[in-house]
Amino acid sequence: MSITVKTVPTKPFDGQKPGTSGLRKSVKVYQQPSYTENFIQATLSAAVGASLKGSTLVVGGDGRYFGKEATDLIIKMCAANGVSKLLIGQNGIFSTPAVSCIIRKYKTNGGIILTASHNPGGPDGDFGIKYNISNGGPAPESVTDAIFKYTTTIKEYLICPDLKADISKLGTQTFKVGGNTFTVEIMDPVADYVAYMKEIFNFSSIKSHVSGPDGQRLNILINSMHGVMGPYAKKVFVEELGCPASSMVNAVPLPDFGGHHPDPNLTYAADLVNDLKKGHHGFGAAFDGDGDRNMILGHNAFFVTPNDSLAVIANNLECIPYFQKNGVKGYARSMPTAGAVDRVAKAKGMECFEVPTGWKFFGNLMDAGRLSLCGEESFGTGSNHIREKDGLWAVLAWLSILAHTKKSVEQTLVDHWKQYGRNFFTRYDYENCDSSPANKMMSDLNSLVADPSLVGKVYSSGNKSYKVAKADNFNYTDPIDKSVSKNQGIRIIFDDDSRIIFRLSGTGSSGATIRLYIEGYESDESKYLMSAQDVLKPLIDIALKISHLVELTGRTAPTVIT
Ligand code: G1P
Ligand code: ZN
Repeated sequence: MSITVKTVPTKPFDGQKPGTSGLRKSVKVYQQPSYTENFIQATLSAAVGASLKGSTLVVGGDGRYFGKEATDLIIKMCAANGVSKLLIGQNGIFSTPAVSCIIRKYKTNGGIILTASHNPGGPDGDFGIKYNISNGGPAPESVTDAIFKYTTTIKEYLICPDLKADISKLGTQTFKVGGNTFTVEIMDPVADYVAYMKEIFNFSSIKSHVSGPDGQRLNILINSMHGVMGPYAKKVFVEELGCPASSMVNAVPLPDFGGHHPDPNLTYAADLVNDLKKGHHGFGAAFDGDGDRNMILGHNAFFVTPNDSLAVIANNLECIPYFQKNGVKGYARSMPTAGAVDRVAKAKGMECFEVPTGWKFFGNLMDAGRLSLCGEESFGTGSNHIREKDGLWAVLAWLSILAHTKKSVEQTLVDHWKQYGRNFFTRYDYENCDSSPANKMMSDLNSLVADPSLVGKVYSSGNKSYKVAKADNFNYTDPIDKSVSKNQGIRIIFDDDSRIIFRLSGTGSSGATIRLYIEGYESDESKYLMSAQDVLKPLIDIALKISHLVELTGRTAPTVIT
């Protein structure tokens, strides 16, 4: 019997404007009648667009609250809109890297990811719907703009209210809709992804390093923060690599992430930091809600900044089979990310790109064969194996390096700094500020850097002085499609390569989040083990003075320091 397609009249909602990471709002917003339906319809009509009829899409998310309801709506609306097939993770679960992997492996038209990444979940938390295109990466601005435009004029959406698919049951379910067959395939969320990791890395080498005999083994601890990564981590580390079950912490995905921010940084992943401080483990890692971010720690909670993590991986790629086979084409980092990887690129005679914040900017370079490895200071690391950052990939890259060199995490870093010098880095986040003072601060800074007389000016704090060499609001021209992205962050660069950067977050769901990034380069070996906060204090003071951040926002301290 054919299932009926219903056309439901609707009206536009304000502000359904997806950004880099999709449309991220509080669950309460998504629960308004027709809100989610409108956005799904806009995504299908504007993003999948002309290829919608007969298309195949991937659907999955990080298991957060409202995910199952949204998955159910997507199934009913895809059926009504003429989609031919959906590949859905069992119970609506896929990590973000897994969606990217599945889109590419099965050559689908795209995929819909249900996540608000590292933001809290639960009835009072956040939700998000994000569209990835056929290369497996986040939709570019042209596509998100088209989705937004559609939401502003939407008059109706299509749905099959009577279609009932069982997303808990692995296998294929078919339905007759308007004379066509609509197929829902419920997939094991981890199988394809893990199979891919086994192609990329040498699992037997990692296995002998992390589950060898007592006394020789590297004890690892993986904290999945009750996000989507628990099942992936168990499969890889316990089943494949032979680590004890006790090395998996917070590995059961929860719809509210246990009430925490599922964000792997020193503040929100304090559990991992405290566990590692006990000294029983030589390696620790945490992932965010949807599994694209990672934090790496060594023995006694030795912190590897994501900037250094990228540079160390860049320096050692040849021990990973994927790169032995495919070669290394180039490196990239986002603009606020410290320039440690640039030094590796220079030494290896490799191209190195500086792109705006957000993973989507790496995709074009990868598709054009110019980029193999990239990362962001915000705990994102990845390669051209997919088109999203990939937390578990980064951990396996690190373990491959440690298995190859037999060094500790700390020794790896110290040796790296001896070779290249150290790019000290810190990031201050001021979350949930009032928007108007935050905007004023940015516009004042914009005027400041637009004034040519800033170049040459000397700022001092304590016994340190810094002379401005360059100041601007970062503009980027994509080397491949020549598209221009303007005003991507205020940069004040000093003549010793130190940098002060200000940006407003583009991913928050309420208020304004100010991000202040500070970088200072040091080639004096005696300073390598100093704390970044101590080394960078003069620059932090100067940044606060220049921006009037405290006076304008009333914030005397950041919410998170990394
Ligand atoms: C943040 C990070 C950025 C990352 C994005 C998505 O964006 O800073 O590096 O790509 O989340 O994970 P922001 O909130 O700063 O715009
Ligand atoms: Zn994420």
